[in-house]
Amino acid sequence: MSAGNRRFNDEAADWDKNPSVQESSRLAFNALSPLIASLSARKHQATGIETGLHVLEVGCGTGLLTLRVAPLVASIVAIDPAQGMIETLKAKIDSSSSSSTSTCETDNLHADGPRTRSPNSNILPICHLLSDPEDPLLPPEDGDPKSTGRRRKFDLIISHLVMHHVPDLRSFLSTLHGCLAPGGKVALSDFEDFGPEAIKFHPPSKLKGVERHGIQREWMEGIMREVGFEDVRVQVGWSLRKSVEMWEGCRLGDTMEFPFLLCEGARAVV
Ligand SMILES: C[S@@+](CC[C@H](N)C(=O)[O-])C[C@H]1O[C@@H](n2cnc3c(N)ncnc32)[C@H](O)[C@@H]1O
Repeated sequence: MSAGNRRFNDEAADWDKNPSVQESSRLAFNALSPLIASLSARKHQATGIETGLHVLEVGCGTGLLTLRVAPLVASIVAIDPAQGMIETLKAKIDSSSSSSTSTCETDNLHADGPRTRSPNSNILPICHLLSDPEDPLLPPEDGDPKSTGRRRKFDLIISHLVMHHVPDLRSFLSTLHGCLAPGGKVALSDFEDFGPEAIKFHPPSKLKGVERHGIQREWMEGIMREVGFEDVRVQVGWSLRKSVEMWEGCRLGDTMEFPFLLCEGARAVV
């Protein structure tokens, strides 16, 4: 197990107690929801039926963003290499399904026809380090659970606060590109590497498993284009005020504003 994975397994139980993690997911969701609405409308217009989006979230953690996005989409596959994170997400899904069952929504994850579903039953949590768009752990394209054929291709791929942990970002982005349906989009968010002060995003005790202190805008645009994304747009979407009091020279209560990049790109329609 890598140092990064061990760290996230250890932190899973207390992950949601961190207010800046909660606030960060809220801000990411605010930026994503108009995009989800416009992609859903575009799909509806193209297909003539209101199917909703099939979404993949990579590095979902305990599902803070997953659970906000799930009600807006047909399905969401939530994948993360840390077992502790996925177990926490599964527990949340189980507790929501035992506490209430909706009779007006439909289960779009595996079924073709309408069925009643409990809240969050359209979330498929998977513990895995995704490195292949045809990974057999991803749902099959044809919907047959026993199928060994092509895997599902997604309308939208999201990933929040993950890329600064990924050693080989080019290969990560190439995998995501391969997981997109033609015309599908990625919307990836992470804090910006705006200079030497960006290191303070993490307290000194949490630098293990951090591969880079944020994402550099032009560099990111370049590798997104290199791996095949079209309509690449990398821009500051919001910023998060966060404590930096654990850093030398800072005082109790000191905070800093960290800009977040929203990195968008599309797969060619063909
Ligand atoms: C900072 S946490 C963010 C979790 C969640 N997205 C959130 O915002 O609460 C980073 C997550 O990325 C996962 N992760 C680390 N390396 C990864 C990789 N190479 N591919 C996918 N996920 C990874 C970790 O297990 C962890 O759950």
